[in-house]
Amino acid sequence: MNNIKPQEKIESDRLFLSKYVNNKKTIKELLKFYRKDLEYVGLWRETIYKWDNENNIKCYIRSSADVWEKAKELRYAIRLKNNAFIGEIKTAIDCHNEVAEIGFLLDKDHAGYGYISEALLALESYLFSVGFYRIEIMCDTGNERSLKTILRTGHVFETVRLCNKLYDHKNGRFHTAYFYKLKNFNVKKIDPLQFDHKLHKKILLKINTILEKY
Ligand SMILES: CC(C)(COP(=O)(O)OP(=O)(O)OC[C@H]1O[C@@H](n2cnc3c(N)ncnc32)[C@H](O)[C@@H]1OP(=O)(O)O)[C@@H](O)C(=O)NCCC(=O)NCCS
Repeated sequence: MNNIKPQEKIESDRLFLSKYVNNKKTIKELLKFYRKDLEYVGLWRETIYKWDNENNIKCYIRSSADVWEKAKELRYAIRLKNNAFIGEIKTAIDCHNEVAEIGFLLDKDHAGYGYISEALLALESYLFSVGFYRIEIMCDTGNERSLKTILRTGHVFETVRLCNKLYDHKNGRFHTAYFYKLKNFNVKKIDPLQFDHKLHKKILLKINTILEKY
């Protein structure tokens, strides 16, 4: 698939996903959002802390335009229909391999209303419609809330990478769970925990056959 010209606005029932605009209003919104959410994000605290600073937010917004132009990453603000900023959803895209990886973050006052599920399904539906074949989401195994959202929206558990990320320097490391969803995947018909054992067995057998030769 060739590089896409990404859609700047994606609409769903209750939301708009919109490309960040580099202006004072966006910087103010993001700064307020990250400051307010430091407590809530918990597991993400170390990562998020970097954004609690106006210069870093400015850099982030500037880099958002750059990665968008290069069709590498699409960062969308999640807005209610009254334009209120309630979170962010972004996707690192690999047009050549037709694979996109999604990450998301929600304002704590708006949790528990299904907004991230809605944003996720809207973004995925857009990505599949322009030719992506596989969506990936990775999530720390300690992040139960996010795991629930990922499973509820029909993603299939694929694997866990052990000791993949630092939790913090005192408390060791995170394990990361990987999930995927394929194009034309019927969310309703498939058990989200269903795993393609047959395919994996076939691949393992093939690897074993190669290994035996060494
Ligand atoms: C992970 C996170 C986005 C989940 O937020 P959320 O609001 O729970 O997610 P959802 O949009 O899936 O909403 C589901 C909740 O809304 C409720 N809900 C209400 N109306 C709903 C609707 N129309 N559709 C779906 N769910 C609805 C569900 O029952 C559920 O509540 P419950 O968890 O108490 O059972 C949020 O906790 C967050 O931002 N965490 C920090 C960042 C993070 O961890 N990001 C992910 C990294 S992998």
